[in-house]
Order: sequence, then structure tokens, then C-alpha cells
Amino acid sequence: MCGIVGYIGKNQALPILLEGLKKLEYRGYDSSGIAIIGPEGLTTEKSVGKLANLEQKLPSRTITGTIGIGHTRWATHGRPSDANAHPHLSPNGRFAVVHNGIVENYLQIKEHYLAGHTFCSETDTEVIAHLLEKFYDGDFEDAVRQMLQVVRGAFALVMICLEEPDKIIACRKDSPMVLGVGDGENFIASDVPALLSHTRQCIYVEKDEICLLTAEKIIIKDQNGNIIDKTVHTIAWDAESAEKDGYDDFMLKEIYEQPQAFRKVLSGRIEQGKVAFSEFELTENELAKWRKIYIVACGTAYHAGLVGKMIFEKLAHIPTEVEVASEFRYREPMLNEETLVLVISQSGETADTVAALREAKAHGAKVIAITNVLGSAIARESDYTLYLWAGPEISVASTKAYTTMLIAEYLLGAYFAQIKGTITNERLAEILHALAQLPEKAQQLLSNDFIQQINTIAEGYQKVHNLFFIGRGLDWAIVLEGALKLKEISYIHAEAYAAGELKHGTLALITDETPVIALCVQESTYEKTISNIKEVKARDAQVLIVTSENHQQEAAQISDAQLLLPLADNFIAPILSVIPLQLIAYYTAKIRGCNIDQPRNLAKSVTVE
Ligand code: G6P
Repeated sequence: MCGIVGYIGKNQALPILLEGLKKLEYRGYDSSGIAIIGPEGLTTEKSVGKLANLEQKLPSRTITGTIGIGHTRWATHGRPSDANAHPHLSPNGRFAVVHNGIVENYLQIKEHYLAGHTFCSETDTEVIAHLLEKFYDGDFEDAVRQMLQVVRGAFALVMICLEEPDKIIACRKDSPMVLGVGDGENFIASDVPALLSHTRQCIYVEKDEICLLTAEKIIIKDQNGNIIDKTVHTIAWDAESAEKDGYDDFMLKEIYEQPQAFRKVLSGRIEQGKVAFSEFELTENELAKWRKIYIVACGTAYHAGLVGKMIFEKLAHIPTEVEVASEFRYREPMLNEETLVLVISQSGETADTVAALREAKAHGAKVIAITNVLGSAIARESDYTLYLWAGPEISVASTKAYTTMLIAEYLLGAYFAQIKGTITNERLAEILHALAQLPEKAQQLLSNDFIQQINTIAEGYQKVHNLFFIGRGLDWAIVLEGALKLKEISYIHAEAYAAGELKHGTLALITDETPVIALCVQESTYEKTISNIKEVKARDAQVLIVTSENHQQEAAQISDAQLLLPLADNFIAPILSVIPLQLIAYYTAKIRGCNIDQPRNLAKSVTVE
């Protein structure tokens, strides 16, 4: 949610800022802007819409200068417009600010500190630039410190000052920020992909730290002005992993990366027939304490949690509830030392999930995180963290992070079960064997022939207005994610229903214009789902069945189209079942001409509550 970049060094800032923003556009894309200090003073350019609009404005007046900041926005306060785009300037035009997050008390600040000031935008951010001007008395750092005494909220800020053009100052409360360490140049970004083509040496900025960047050095101080000794990390990803690599869209690339991501999330975690994690080791006593698990997450990660519930209850015999994070924290859930809270988040920075995590910890619950982002807020604040190792996920619609979240849950469930003794060695061996086979089976689903079948199905959906997904048990958890994928990127209204529940009201919506996608992989409910399929067929719905290849014959008899999945252990099968649904969403959106990686109104990571 909002991408910020900063550069100071020996090269022209403009191309570096634009390139960095391009890498961060997944964080927000309703407007963008840059500010650069150069021979002409402090110059800004901003534009509503995608970054391409800003680039179009620029060639006529190239802005020179070797220090600058940039921003790509996902609107919170004030609609997308040129005026609301960042950077925001102080009234005298000598300070420029880019901001990710929310200044919660901006209205009080306007009243108490900035009475009489005229503002050019409807944003909360503009008060920061005004405060810097008000507090500036020849010392930029001091003005920033005074400003930080006044503002409340969750934010990351990057600021420049015309009077002190040899430095950028950056600070963060809750929104993420990473510094890139170069040679005679330094970088700031909301996320690692923006740094990768320049440096792989990076410093993660923590809450309440203030960073002073010059071309030659980076100094990081705490709230009291003491210098902090920070670790410089080497990023393991290469620049290509954040590029489209010949694919039309990041989403397609990320769908195709799944076999590889499966190998990574499994790697080193199955040893001699047992699950082991290098990140942590739990004891029997510790596990015995946990009488209940809450899985808390948002969006796609919440859907992964629904599968998790079935895993933890079945394998580890621990009652499990799943809740969306934005509801969980406000309903006073029963949390204590006997509760385990599992937070799941691709980005590790979703504000609702972070808040739920803090609520859990405040009540004495232990927290395990499943996340993809190293050093993210959720990883740092949890008691234990299990990384997905899926590589950067850029497309707003999550795919490989979702399937690797499922694998992480299966591993964790099996790990609990082996410690608690709630699984036989034979069943454990079967599950681990089935997990190890996943990369190969996922690869089969990405064959040209299968993609061709999906394309034909997607063509049939291009003019559809409403669509139903049905399934039972684990199949139901997966169709929820399938429907979300389709809605997010194709804008077709889709509903996922527990197949047995359809007849209790919603069947009224089924007509020959409402196609139904039935996921029918779970053998234990296969026959029941087939009956539900017959119910919708009897109301003239066009039905696509997604089932295992052993059901080919029956599926062909009762449906209009079939997609057949390779046989897999039924309990593990959901990881494969979702892949055709991801592909249906992708190709339907593609045929409808949608912007797949940047769907309207959405952002990849949502750092406001
Ligand atoms: C946003 C994204 C979703 C994502 C959700 C949770 O809404 O658009 O795709 O599932 O955030 O993100 P997280 O990073 O916590 O998994």
C-alpha cells in the first residue's frame, strides 16, 4: 500500500526513482510523483493514474539532480488526483515528503499547529511538510524530530530539504522500509524489489528509527538520537526474480513458479520421515498447553487458514477457529496462555493482521507466523516464524504464496501431530510422500494441453455476469479462493458456496445464465457433491466439473465441461485443486482485457486498518 523510494548519490536521480517506482507499483497505482533537488532547486512532478502517466509528462522537461524521492499511491485520504499525489511540499516549497501509512491526528494538527495554513491537497500527509517548515531552524534532523513528537499513526516517511541537499531523512513507525547500501550512493524503498538492480546489500529499518542518508554513508539513530549499529543483510533473490521474465503478467509467472516454490517451501523440512524446522523447535510440553488454535489472516491468507483449520483438527486434534483479522481483534476473543494464534500473511505487513497479532500477545497467547517476507513486522513480532521461501510475489492476486501457505500448514500440522503422537507413522509417511510429489504433479497441470482446455473454458466465461463455485469440505475451502481470484482480476461477480447449502436459498439464483464450477475432488463427499451438481443442472446451469482423473467417465456424463486433475492423496489434493481455478481466473481476465497485475481499487499489501 503506497510505494516509496529515495536516492542519493553520483547518478541522475530521475531514472533511478522511476525504475524503483515501477517495481513498487503493485503497492498502489492510482497516482505517482517525484521530487528532485538539482540546479533548478527543488522540482516536483506528479500525475494521477498509473506511473506511465507520470512518465508521459516528464520527457518535455527532464529534471536533473542526484538526490530525490518518489511515490506511488493507493488512496486513503482524498481521491486519486494530481493534487493528492505525493510528494507534498511545504508552503515555501523547500521540503518535500513522501508517505506510506496514515497520520491519524492530521485534523488536530491542522487545528493546533497549522491554523491559518492553506493546503493544496485533501491528504493527511501534507501536514508533515508544513510541520517541517514550521519547526525548521537551520537543522533538518531537528525539525524531523520535532515533527515526530506531534504526528500519530502508522507510517513510513522520506523527506528532503532544499537547504540541506546533501541528505535524505527517512523514518518509520509501522509501515515497512528498507535501505539499499551502494558504493557512493544509497537507496530507500518500501520493499526489496526496488533495490535489486542496484544493490543486494540492505538494512531493514525498524520501528521508531530515524535514518540519515548521504551519498557516502547511512546513519541510523533511535528516538533519543543515539546511533544504532545495524546489520547489513545480503538479499538472496536476484533481480530477475522480480521481473516478468517473458511472461505477459506477473500473475502468470507466479502461477508457473509454483512447482519451484513448492520445492523451496518443502526443502530441508522433511528429514528421515519426520518434519523439522530450522526456524524453531517445539516441545511436547509446549504443545500440550495449547488447547485451541485461532488462525487469523486477511484475503487469500484467510482462505489458506480455512484449509488450516481442517489440517490442525484432523492431524493434531486441536480445535481450531479461523477469523478475518479485522474482525478478530474487535470482538474480544478468548485468548490466554492456552491459546495458539497462527497468523498468516504473505507480506507480513498487513495492518489488520499485525494488530490481531499484538492483541493475541497482549493476552498471553503464543503466536506462530507463516509469512513470505523476511524481517517483516509479523515475522519480527511473532514468537515463531515459518517462512514460505516462495520468492517475491508481485501480482496483487496471490497465487504461489497461497499454495505455499497451504504446504506450510500441512507441514506444521504434521509436525504438531508427530510431537503429540496423534498420527501413526504410516499415515505421516503417506502425507510426507504426497507433499514431496507435489512439484511434479503441479507441473503436469501447467502442460500446454491443460492450458489449452482452460483457455476454451475462459472464452465461454468472457461475457458472464455471475458465476457460482461449489464444493464440500476441503473442496469448499478451495472454491472460496477460486471465486476470490476471479472477482479480483476479471471483475465477474462470483460466489463460492458449500455445495450442500445451495438449496437452502441460493439455488434461486441459478439459471442458464449462471455457470457453475464444481470442485469435486474429496472422495468422502464425492457422491453428495454429484447430487448437488445434478440439482444445478436441473435448473439449466452450465456446469464445469473439476475432479480427479479417475472420475472422468461420470464427470463427462453429468457436466458440460471437465478438467481432470492427477490423482493425489485426497487430504493433500487441495494444493493442486486450486491451480486450475487460478488459471481460469487468469485467462478469463486476460480475454476480458483486464489489467491483471493491478486490478482496480486493490493493493498488494494493505498497511491501513
Ligand atoms: C490484500 C491483497 C490480497 C491479500 C491480502 C492479505 O488485500 O490484495 O491479495 O490476500 O491483502 O495480504 P497478506 O500480505 O497479509 O497475505
